[in-house]
Amino acid sequence: MIFEQVATGGCQSYVIGCEDTCAAAVVDPEASQLDRYLALAARHGLRIRYLIDTHTHADHFSGSRELARQLGVPVVMHRASPAPFVDMRVDDGEMVVVGNLRLEVIHTPGHTRDSMCLAIADRLLTGDTLLIGATGRTDLPTGDPEALYDSLVNNLLKRDPALAVYPAHDYKGQGSSTLGRELAENPRLKIAGREAFVEQMRNLNLTMPRHLTEALRTNLSGGKTVGQLIGEAAARVPFMSMAEVKQRLATGLGDLVVLDVRERDAYEEAHIPGARLIPRGQLELSVNTALPDPTRRILCYCELGKVSTLAAATLRDLGFTRAVALDGGMIAWQASGYPVRSGKEP
Ligand SMILES: [Fe+2]
Repeated sequence: MIFEQVATGGCQSYVIGCEDTCAAAVVDPEASQLDRYLALAARHGLRIRYLIDTHTHADHFSGSRELARQLGVPVVMHRASPAPFVDMRVDDGEMVVVGNLRLEVIHTPGHTRDSMCLAIADRLLTGDTLLIGATGRTDLPTGDPEALYDSLVNNLLKRDPALAVYPAHDYKGQGSSTLGRELAENPRLKIAGREAFVEQMRNLNLTMPRHLTEALRTNLSGGKTVGQLIGEAAARVPFMSMAEVKQRLATGLGDLVVLDVRERDAYEEAHIPGARLIPRGQLELSVNTALPDPTRRILCYCELGKVSTLAAATLRDLGFTRAVALDGGMIAWQASGYPVRSGKEP
């Protein structure tokens, strides 16, 4: 078995491959690591056959849907998953067959209703059901401490103590544990009895994950994160450095149209000298009158460099093949002490 653990902050994902057949699965892929999974698979001579999420993640962005789309392979989740784009729904006691590997599904509700663990040979991928020295929290949508108690005490923890434990979160960089070690040392499991366990889970008082709303929105719908949207735009536009623009300003802009895509009040407060103004929200409907020549070289900028990236991509969609975005934004421009003007558009 080829087994690679990929850490993204505290999130752990796994590339699991069969050496005999070159088939592989990625478990809990993170949206920002798609190139890494593809590169790891290529390095090992593997072909990814399944994208598996152990549950609906509320704290990070799943890469399953996008990678599945790129590769034309199914997204696998538990039957109880509310996500409409799941291609292969699985249930307790079933197996996902990856070449000669057998990934056994163990339904372990508690952290979420759709949580599952995967047993593969000598190890368990425990998702957010069992972590190293902790358990998944039960205070997020569909969480249930009673169910988690049953999933752990009456199911997972009854398995062979020698099994290795690979969780979906590991904030301390420990990598893996064993069921036996968790039984002996995990403080959350030392609480005796269902009531005490439930009481403990109800009183953890954890802070809400940073991207809860966006993670649930995208993971449940298969829609894009804002970061993905900007990333896709950035992948198809060139950028110009602030130093290059400053130098061009000094020698005259020539054929370069510098386009401020912020709102009017921001423009009038401070803008790049000679810049024109079309707020991003008006871009599509204003171009015909404001920028009749699609062969003009146009540099978009905004406050941070994100909206300008979207604007440059939109202009390219509209046929402005020389639209580029500033590598930076007005905040960085001003912090660099570069020249600015205030007042209305000339
Ligand atoms: Fe989770």
